[in-house]
Amino acid sequence: MTRLPRIARLVGVGLLLSGCGHDFEPPDRGQRVREAEAAFTPALFDSVAWASDSVRAVEGNLVYAEKCRRCHGPLGRGQTDYARERRLEVPSLVAADWPLARADTLRHVVFVGHEDGMPIYGEGGISPREIDAVAHYILEVMRPDAVGGGGGI
Ligand code: HEC
Repeated sequence: MTRLPRIARLVGVGLLLSGCGHDFEPPDRGQRVREAEAAFTPALFDSVAWASDSVRAVEGNLVYAEKCRRCHGPLGRGQTDYARERRLEVPSLVAADWPLARADTLRHVVFVGHEDGMPIYGEGGISPREIDAVAHYILEVMRPDAVGGGGGI
């Protein structure tokens, strides 16, 4: 399915609902998070392979810049203007003693999202390969020694 018809359908639903005098309710994020959770399996990443760690880091940098930076910030510290304008509480990805600092955990979080604003990337938009790249980018480039500074490139 291409992107456009899906958006067109959503707009159509919105118009339909507003036409009936109801406020447009976006789809229930909690429900979508649960669906993504049900669809998640570590096996999604079994076929992901990289020529080298640096190829993966370059790809991860691209994914981060395009998909994550506006909310999580160039150094991963969170709370950007973009996030504030949307009243999103965006956590730091470079805090010391971060319990999520493992590739398998990060792949899971990025796939499933969160009902309070973190996008549900498992719904589409980025592939398992891109999720793998960005998870390693956070671990190996943004927080190479996991001490909270975050190097960035
Ligand atoms: C629209 C803003 C937005 C974008 C874009 C976004 N995030 Fe998030 N992210 C959030 C918010 C908000 C949270 C906190 C959980 C919540 O409230 O939804 C979060 C939480 C997280 C967490 C868990 C942090 C913790 O300590 O609990 C990780 C990891 C994460 N995001 C990674 C990413 C990655 C990687 C990308 C890009 C592929 C990304 N995020 C894109 C808003 C965003």
